[in-house]
This record gives sequence, structure tokens and C-alpha cells, in this order.
Amino acid sequence: MHPGGWKVRIAAGALMLAGVACPRCEPDSKREPATPPAAARPAPVDANAAKLERGRYLVEAVLACGACHSERDTTRYGGPVQGAPLAGACQGPEWGFPGRVCAPNITSDAEHGIGRWTDEELLRALREGKGRDGRTLFPSMPYLVWRSLSDEDAHAVVAHLRQVPAVARATPRTEIPEAVYADIQELAQPLEGPVPAPDASAQGQYLATIGQCALCHGGMGPDAQPFEGGVPVPTPYGPETVPGLLPHGDVLRGLGEDAFVARFTAWKDVAPAPSREGQVNKLVMPWGFFARMHEDDLRAVYRHLQSVPAPSGTAAHPGE
Ligand code: HEC
Ligand code: HEC
Repeated sequence: MHPGGWKVRIAAGALMLAGVACPRCEPDSKREPATPPAAARPAPVDANAAKLERGRYLVEAVLACGACHSERDTTRYGGPVQGAPLAGACQGPEWGFPGRVCAPNITSDAEHGIGRWTDEELLRALREGKGRDGRTLFPSMPYLVWRSLSDEDAHAVVAHLRQVPAVARATPRTEIPEAVYADIQELAQPLEGPVPAPDASAQGQYLATIGQCALCHGGMGPDAQPFEGGVPVPTPYGPETVPGLLPHGDVLRGLGEDAFVARFTAWKDVAPAPSREGQVNKLVMPWGFFARMHEDDLRAVYRHLQSVPAPSGTAAHPGE
């Protein structure tokens, strides 16, 4: 129906599919230190309370795993999660996907979930795009972005997944055309070395990267500028357009830091109004997850957005 939609949500991947360099992949690869590949072997994930708490926070708020891996009631504004969290869900062409794309059950269930997966298998799916069976994962699983996830954070995610109550529920397999599968092969790449945690001063940028703010709000195509937005994403109720998040653009101009934080925290009390055709039902951006982000983190993201330079050739984007 809207065959371009999935590419929007994985703009970085789409750019690579088109055979052009991915501008927003640049800062990430620069951050990776030149360490020999042997050092990439992750140490086994051990769990302590702080690590489990960090993992829960990442899974339930910043990384929003449940936006895709949980069933959601899209007939209602914001698409609240329904049923058991992380027990698997599929999306099809009504969301612009080239087939049926299924984010599997990742609860601790041994048969249908990740109960028997090794830490290494989970880390590989998360950051390198390889499924347990060795297949290349469809890149709406945000592994291209999560190459930037620090070792510490990736381990915390794995530790938390072990604690997610088991749900014995099978997920159908992803079914995409062979030509699409062939196109995505190059996207799954091993990490070249350890990924260090960001400096305190880079927290906002790091969160805007791993929270996919930069990806979704980044525009599309080889000339896309960071945070220029403007991309329509298909939903069953019609497209939702991603706004730009530049300091002087329509959203952020005049929006103070407190008001910015309030837009997120307000989602803790959103009433479940019905979704309507042609209305922005807020089904694309995972607001319900981001509402749980720590205020400090939202503030860091805001300050990072304020520091993003105006794009070159601003005149070509009159809205910004
Ligand atoms: C934007 C949607 C989306 C988000 C967010 C997301 N995933 Fe996924 N994930 C998918 C899809 C779709 C697949 C299956 C891809 C395929 O079948 O090719 C997948 C696959 C996986 C797999 C591999 C399963 C297998 O069968 O090999 C694991 C593990 C996984 N996700 C874990 C996570 C975790 C942990 C998070 C949060 C930190 C997360 N995902 C967030 C969409 C998502
Ligand atoms: C999956 C894509 C996606 C992701 C990820 C995403 N956004 Fe959005 N965002 C959208 C879309 C679509 C809209 C417009 C519809 C809406 O308001 O939900 C939007 C709207 C917004 C708005 C405007 C809200 C308003 O009231 O006008 C802000 C601010 C925003 N996003 C910030 C962020 C931040 C910060 C992050 C990362 C923590 C983020 N977005 C991640 C897709 C996304």
C-alpha cells in the first residue's frame, strides 16, 4: 500500500539499500575505537541490582522494545500495549512493510522466547542484526542504530530480558520477498570492537541516537539533514508526518525545556480515545514508552537538540 514506509523508520538502512553512504551512521562509526576484532568477544553477562534496573529502564523506556515486540491496540490513540509485554507481534503492509514483519516473543520462555538463547546470541541480534538461526534480521529491528549501544547498556538489556516473565506464545515468522531479503544482507555487520559508554557531556546525543529520535526525525534520502524531519510514515489510519526537531523549527521554536519534558510525561495519563481515519493517532512515535524516561535524560535530549546546527541551505526548507 505504502511500500516506502518501512524505509522511513529505518532510514539509515534504506540509504544503504540505495547504495549511498549513510550520513547519520558516520558519528557512530567514528566513535568506535580501532581495537582488534578479538577484543569484541563480550564477557558473559552477570546481573546485579543496578544493572538490572538500568536494563529495565532501557527496555521499557528509552529503547521501547515493546513498541514492536508487544501487541498494541492501534484502534486507540497512542496504541497502548495490550496483553503480555514482549510476547511477540507482527506488522504488515498497512504499516508500509514489504510483507509480514514479526518481532518475536522475547520473554524468558524457553520454548517460544529467549530462555535458551546465550548472551552472545542476544547481543548479536541487538547490535549486529543476526538472528539466532543466522538469518539477517529485517532492519526495522533497530540494530543499525544500536551498534552505538555501549557494552554496558547492551549487557544490562540482556540481564533484564532474563527477568521478563515467561509467556508461552509462538510468533509467526517474518515473511518478506526474497529480493528484499537479498537487499538487506549487507546491513548485518559484526562490531569491530568494544563500544564504550558516552562521556557525561554526550549523554543527550547518545540518548537521541539509541532512542531513535535522530533516525525517525532525521528526514530521508542522501541529502537529509539531522533532525530536519518531514517524512510521512504509513499507519492503518493514514500517514503520520514526522516533524523536524531543529532549534528554530516548528516544534522546538518557543518550546522551553520544561514544556518539552511535559509533552513526554503527560503521556502517563493519556486517555484511551479511539483512533480515527485521517487523524494523527500518535501510533508511530512510542510516546507511551518515552513517557517513562527520566526527566534528566529528557533534559539532556532537549539540550542536545538545541545544539544541532541549522542545516546548510536552510532556505530550501521554509518550515524550519
Ligand atoms: C521498531 C521495532 C523493534 C524494536 C523497537 C525492537 N525490535 Fe527486536 N525485532 C524487531 C523485528 C521486526 C524483529 C524480527 C526481524 C526478522 O524477523 O527479520 C526483531 C528481532 C529481534 C530479535 C531476534 C529474534 C530472532 O528470532 O532471531 C531479538 C533478540 C530482539 N528483536 C530483541 C529486541 C530487544 C531486546 C529490543 C529492545 C532493546 C528490541 N528487540 C526492539 C523489531 C523491533
Ligand atoms: C518511530 C519514529 C519516531 C521515534 C523513534 C521518535 N519520534 Fe518523535 N515523532 C514521530 C512522529 C511520527 C511524530 C508526529 C506525530 C506525533 O506527535 O506523535 C513525532 C513527534 C514528536 C514531537 C512533537 C510533538 C508535538 O507535540 O508536536 C517531539 C517533540 C518529538 N517527536 C520528539 C522525539 C524525541 C525526543 C524522540 C526520541 C526520544 C523521538 N521523538 C522519537 C516519530 C518518532
